[in-house]
Amino acid sequence: YKEKIYCFFMPKEDLTILLIGSGAREHTISCAYEKSPNVKKIIIAPGNDFISYKREKEVVTDKNCSLKNPSSLLEIARKYKPSLVDVAQDDALALGTVDILKKDGFVVFGSRKQAARIEWDKRWSREFMQRHGIPHPSFRYFENEADAEQYVKDLYTGNSSKLLYVKATGLCSGKGALKSTSLDEAVKNIIRMKDFPNGAGKTFLVEEGLEGEEFSYYAISDGIIYRLFKSAQDNKTVFNFDEGDQTGGMGVVSPALVTKPIKDEIEKQQISKMINGMASEQNPYRGIIYLGGIVVNGKPVNIEYNARWGDPECQVVLPSVETDYLELVKACLEGKLNELDIKQDNKTRVCIVGASKGYPNDYSQVKGKRIFGIDEALKMEGVNIFGAGVDIIDGRLYVNGGRLFSIVAEGKDILEARQKAYSAIARISIEGNNLHYRTDIGWRDVERLRKMLGS
Ligand code: GLY
Repeated sequence: YKEKIYCFFMPKEDLTILLIGSGAREHTISCAYEKSPNVKKIIIAPGNDFISYKREKEVVTDKNCSLKNPSSLLEIARKYKPSLVDVAQDDALALGTVDILKKDGFVVFGSRKQAARIEWDKRWSREFMQRHGIPHPSFRYFENEADAEQYVKDLYTGNSSKLLYVKATGLCSGKGALKSTSLDEAVKNIIRMKDFPNGAGKTFLVEEGLEGEEFSYYAISDGIIYRLFKSAQDNKTVFNFDEGDQTGGMGVVSPALVTKPIKDEIEKQQISKMINGMASEQNPYRGIIYLGGIVVNGKPVNIEYNARWGDPECQVVLPSVETDYLELVKACLEGKLNELDIKQDNKTRVCIVGASKGYPNDYSQVKGKRIFGIDEALKMEGVNIFGAGVDIIDGRLYVNGGRLFSIVAEGKDILEARQKAYSAIARISIEGNNLHYRTDIGWRDVERLRKMLGS
């Protein structure tokens, strides 16, 4: 499949980049652009106060827009006239922001609405995997509770502790897959589907649960050629030992879990087949591919594809990229990824997410409380902090969200990176003892390393 790549007009230097998104992921992406000698200014819409805190280049945020309102994002683009717009956030991608901005003449990085469907319509995505022989869990989709309840009753007959996931088909900020280990739980989760945004016509899925370790993997594609980034492993639940409610992500390590034979399988079964499949359906995928997978008996199985960088995975994967990110994005837009390899360092990175006590449920009592110690943590060598729900008023930092910041520490191995990350977050507190974070991020990697060293 060959598609004409649209003309790409971009000045060579002093570029202004507009980045669409608001969290620690966008903070990280903005740092990648900032490193490019050709970038002069970065606008982040809507961004957050911490993104422009102590930056080397001009980084400004414009909150006069909503990620769920593409017309408001178009207005921002018209206001700043950027050389490049990077649409990094899921809602904005799903609502067709890329298409709308391109139509208005902007150069845009990110997948078109039709291609981002691989993320925003989970039923379509599973059927795509079926069509292209991509390993995935068995699933059924439903449009009413009664049929789904009958189906799970049948599944639990003779196996009362079967693992199932009831999944919303639309976007749910990473919280739309409900784990069920009994008939009762499955039925409750089916009823809960009513509360989720279901995108394509109130559909939801019931999927077999697989036993194995999960990973995230990233690639960039120009529609035909792809390049791979490093692996990562997210920690999705709010408490240690993978307990408590699902969150957007509480901490992450990179690289993680994926050995060379698993990587080869990922490339063959999950990345190549996806890109070729999309191209063969006249729906080429151009942008960042996020594979959420699980290793079952040594083989990677698809949990989901997303059409963007993960948050918090981006915070540990992107900083390892030594290739100029702007050049990478440019090569992708020009259909010239074959001319560029991605150079990545050999460091290990650990990210710990600092959150408001109560997140992902009610944390309203923490809103407006002061955050202390960020500057001390930032002074540590090999430590960086990317911000999300933080307000800055008169130079002071205040809570304005659930996930507040991502501390990222780098080291020669997991032991060094983990030690630095926890030593950094120990310097931070929230008024009234309201900072929550997991204390077990990276434990699997520590065990893997010890096993490898035979200690
Ligand atoms: N790390 C989960 C997500 O970005 O969806």
